[in-house]
Amino acid sequence: MVSQILQDAINDQINNEFYASYLYLSMSVYCEKRNLSGLAGWLKMQSAEETGHGMKLFDFLMDCDGTVVLKGIAQPPTQFDSILSLFEQACEHEKKVTTLINELYELAIQEKAFAVQTHLQWFVTEQVEEEKTSSDIVAKLKLIGDDVASLLALDRELGSRTSAE
Ligand code: FEO
Repeated sequence: MVSQILQDAINDQINNEFYASYLYLSMSVYCEKRNLSGLAGWLKMQSAEETGHGMKLFDFLMDCDGTVVLKGIAQPPTQFDSILSLFEQACEHEKKVTTLINELYELAIQEKAFAVQTHLQWFVTEQVEEEKTSSDIVAKLKLIGDDVASLLALDRELGSRTSAE
């Protein structure tokens, strides 16, 4: 049985993952409204991926005979200064999530919850990928600058994403 303090922390992380899903979904609206449907589609898939992360923790906690407590999801921002700023915020958010996952892992060590540590290892590895993906897009957008043709090429490239992984 997972300790109550760890159950509370896992429930917080479920909420964080669902917030991330909301955030990416809100970002996708911003892009869609600017006719960047490739970026919007990519962000929608990212949103679905975050829901998957939340559900992975949800299912794990239930499998451990814990109690899932779903809390309210905060409203994400709806306005962004630019596409670059939007992806910079996505990148910053992923860094924050990495810190939260690391703190959760640290708590699992303190609580000697070995199964939780093993489960969280997937998230630790996943965050490396999540940070890299968002920082690569930021780097490309910085190179693109005000070049609309290049932005449309990136829109096509990201629009080719076919799965939420
Ligand atoms: Fe659930 Fe983007 O990390």
